[in-house]
Amino acid sequence: MHRRTTIIGLVALVAVAVGIISCATVNRVVVAPPMIEGAKYVGMDQCAICHEKQVKDFNLTQHSRIEIREAAEKDEVKGLGCEACHGPGSLHVDAGGGKGKFIISGKNPDACFQCHLDKNAEFGLQYHHPVKEGRMDCTACHNPHGQDIHTTVQMPMGRANETCAQCHRNQARPHVFEHEALREGCVACHNVHGSINPKMLTERDNNLCLKCHAQVAAPSTAGTTYIGSFDHTQVLKQGTCFSAGCHTAVHGSDVNSHLRY
Ligand code: HEC
Ligand code: HEC
Ligand code: HEC
Ligand code: HEC
Ligand code: HEC
Ligand code: HEC
Ligand code: HEC
Repeated sequence: MHRRTTIIGLVALVAVAVGIISCATVNRVVVAPPMIEGAKYVGMDQCAICHEKQVKDFNLTQHSRIEIREAAEKDEVKGLGCEACHGPGSLHVDAGGGKGKFIISGKNPDACFQCHLDKNAEFGLQYHHPVKEGRMDCTACHNPHGQDIHTTVQMPMGRANETCAQCHRNQARPHVFEHEALREGCVACHNVHGSINPKMLTERDNNLCLKCHAQVAAPSTAGTTYIGSFDHTQVLKQGTCFSAGCHTAVHGSDVNSHLRY
């Protein structure tokens, strides 16, 4: 019982954090970005002088619409997209630029967590991609400057799965017997930032599968559960759909059309 309460509390917290970010996006977004001691905001035009490519790609992303409260208040410059993640850039520009010169590289997820509080919570769940551990960073799956920063929902089908395929070739490769679920993306079954369930599954039990494979009670025999044309009444009591002996090849199979193995 106690554990349940904690989980609900956490979900509520995440919901609040998401709310804060998304309500603010109607048009321009006002947020507090990372700081650099003694530096001021200079605006994207300054960055464009030396970083033409990043600026060009960037204008197409959500992040280019972010406005920085502190800068807006002081009437410095408005709509400083680059400095939202890299911090105020005056010292970097004065120094003629350079690696590690008065600029936040962006590799550190703390820059992202500053605004994406809910992601901080998600990567803190028990099963997660090792971002906080420093074994990978947000850019493994998100291109911070390009359009790829979009969610999978906005991506062409399959593109998101390609990202995963870089590291999980075996699950993402083509199979003789495909599981059509993968067309909805890996996120149909995995919360990839983090989850309370092993293997980052969205559900830990049969609900994972039943959300698409609705169970139907056979009209004549009450109390039985049919999935497809097969009576699952007994087998559903024995474990999950993806337990050994049932449908272990959830990512697709080369040998069995029912995804047994
Ligand atoms: C006068 C030219 C110049 C201007 C203006 C400039 N930069 Fe740079 N910047 C550089 C150079 C040169 C590098 C080093 C590139 C390299 O080594 O590949 C660099 C590197 C960077 C890096 C990588 C830092 C790292 O440690 O890896 C970031 C991030 C960056 N700049 C952001 C910005 C932002 C944001 C602006 C605008 C506020 C800006 N730059 C303006 C020249 C400039
Ligand atoms: C959403 C946060 C974010 C914003 C906004 C952002 N960047 Fe970056 N930037 C990053 C991250 C993360 C990296 C590290 C990427 C990597 O190593 O793969 C990076 C890397 C860089 C680099 C190093 C070279 C490279 O491309 O890896 C430069 C230069 C740079 N950014 C410039 C800019 C400029 C100019 C803008 C504005 C047009 C900008 N950034 C906006 C997050 C951001
Ligand atoms: C293992 C790959 C992966 C890593 C690493 C990753 N993301 Fe994501 N992210 C995704 C995928 C996939 C989606 C789309 C989720 C969906 O459509 O349900 C997403 C969606 C998002 C979204 C928009 C939708 C939402 O859930 O609010 C944000 C914001 C985001 N990620 C931020 C981050 C930040 C910040 C980091 C680093 C701290 C990060 N992500 C690291 C894969 C990743
Ligand atoms: C200054 C605040 C700020 C920082 C820093 C920041 N973001 Fe965002 N990010 C936002 C806002 C605001 C949105 C728009 C959210 C929305 O529309 O709901 C957004 C949207 C996103 C999305 C979803 C884009 C889409 O098309 O739906 C992703 C993914 C994302 N950010 C990843 C990152 C990553 C990775 C970093 C660090 C490299 C980062 N963000 C840094 C404020 C920030
Ligand atoms: C840059 C490499 C990389 C990318 C890209 C990547 N992952 Fe991962 N993934 C990892 C690492 C590292 C682990 C942790 C493995 C460990 O702890 O041994 C992991 C773990 C997982 C696990 C849990 C595995 C287990 O045995 O518990 C799942 C599920 C997963 N990733 C799915 C995805 C999905 C879905 C995507 C695409 C949205 C993705 N990954 C993108 C590197 C990556
Ligand atoms: C239909 C649901 C579903 C979809 C879609 C899905 N997975 Fe999985 N995935 C699972 C289940 C269930 C497990 C756990 C299997 C187990 O515990 O035996 C799993 C486990 C994993 C693991 C851990 C290694 C393993 O095989 O146990 C990785 C890595 C993984 N999935 C990556 C991916 C990637 C990458 C995609 C997209 C190409 C994806 N998954 C799509 C259901 C799914
Ligand atoms: C996102 C929706 C979705 C999810 C989630 C999903 N599936 Fe599927 N699955 C499909 C679709 C669509 C088909 C192809 C049409 C059909 O056969 O019903 C399919 C086909 C199958 C088949 C082949 C049917 C046959 O002929 O034997 C099996 C077995 C299967 N899924 C098992 C699972 C298991 C086990 C899970 C949970 C780990 C799962 N599915 C989760 C959508 C989904």
